[in-house]
Amino acid sequence: VTPIPRDKGVDNTLDLIQEGFNFIPDRRKKFGSDIFETRLVGRKAICIAGEEAAEIFYDNDKFKRKGAMPKPLKSSLLGNNGVHEQDGEVHKHRKRMFLSMMTPERLEDMKRIAVEELDKKADEWEGKDEVVMLEEIQKVFGITGLRWAGLPLEGEDIDKRVDELVDMVDFGASDTGKTAVSFATGVASRKSHEKWLMKIIRKVRSGKIKPHPNTALYIVAHHRERDGKELDPHTAAVDLNNAYRPLIAAAYFIAFGLLAIHENPEVGKKLKEDADGNYSKMFTQEVRRYYPFAPAMAAKVKDKFEWKGHKFKKNRLVILDLFGTNRHPDAWENADEFRPERFRDWKESPFSFVPQGGGDFHAGHRCAGEWLTVMVMRSTFEYLTKSITYEVPKQNLEYDMTRIPAFPKSKFIITNVKKEGKSK
Ligand code: HEM
Repeated sequence: VTPIPRDKGVDNTLDLIQEGFNFIPDRRKKFGSDIFETRLVGRKAICIAGEEAAEIFYDNDKFKRKGAMPKPLKSSLLGNNGVHEQDGEVHKHRKRMFLSMMTPERLEDMKRIAVEELDKKADEWEGKDEVVMLEEIQKVFGITGLRWAGLPLEGEDIDKRVDELVDMVDFGASDTGKTAVSFATGVASRKSHEKWLMKIIRKVRSGKIKPHPNTALYIVAHHRERDGKELDPHTAAVDLNNAYRPLIAAAYFIAFGLLAIHENPEVGKKLKEDADGNYSKMFTQEVRRYYPFAPAMAAKVKDKFEWKGHKFKKNRLVILDLFGTNRHPDAWENADEFRPERFRDWKESPFSFVPQGGGDFHAGHRCAGEWLTVMVMRSTFEYLTKSITYEVPKQNLEYDMTRIPAFPKSKFIITNVKKEGKSK
């Protein structure tokens, strides 16, 4: 048996909060190891990274999700009792519900709605002195998600609903000093949003509202569990929200993509001249690989096993370094450089590129919205490089890797926006 390097300290939760995306990669460097043990939220935790580590982490025979997710994350970001924390057949059945929303027709709907909302916003941007892109794209994707899900929005305070989504995602967990406040905001927004969704779900079930049968609203409201029963209204609200809220996350990648374009002008030129969409795809993949969004995922050992001579005890908390795996030197050449072309000949692996989780979509916990995300990101980058022109004024574009989620400090400001092809 090979001992696992052990982190110092009685509990390292505060270090995690203070170090954010650097917590696992820094320790891996220090120990010279892709596996180490630490203590988080009062319990032992094994952190692992890399392609092979991801492969065991997504092995359903080795890991389960029940009880793995820290409570504060559930109360703001993910909600209680949703698909994320289900195991076995219950998970597979619930996952099928999500994947049934992702038909080619519905992916096209999402793309169409996103571009429509972007185009509306661009009209507003033309009249503004400066445009804060992270906030604007959060709004675009928020409204896009609500519309796509089939939610009744007439007479609704849409801005408020979008703000709630942003609060849930940007819980500022690593913003030490503001943590409690930010979590409280996320929790309150989740409660308000879930209450709204529960009311709508009840109306769908009683026939007062009739959404299109291909929408997330219809599918979740009428979904039957394996025992033939409908989801209780709260769980239904949580999983309905899980079907569109995460699109907000893609707004952070858009802000980072704009940063990449700004720092590498030749990239912007290639996007503009990209006729077949191949470059926008490679660019989107590289943005998702290179920039930080989801730092890590947690699971628990189902039954004890050994891996590479290391013992994993039953119920041990195990954390997979998603961000570090995306930048692992064994799988990626010059991993710390931004190079979209690396995806030209990429031998697709479900375990080396895991910005939205790894493994199999159907059998495992890999993100149900990955195809949607890639499609919407590509269309957005295409729109922003081909359909408008803008300038990037001097601003603070640094991003703080100790804050989760991270973003350029200025939230990426643009000025002098003009829609292409319009007479001046
Ligand atoms: C799961 C990231 C967009 C729906 C996940 C997971 C991650 C993730 C890390 C967890 C994987 C695991 O449990 O091992 C992201 C990121 C996104 C994004 C970074 C955008 C930038 C979306 C979108 C949707 C979505 C647009 C839906 C429309 C889901 C669902 C799950 C999930 C339902 C749970 C899957 C399961 O537990 O089986 N995502 N996601 N995500 N995501 Fe996403």
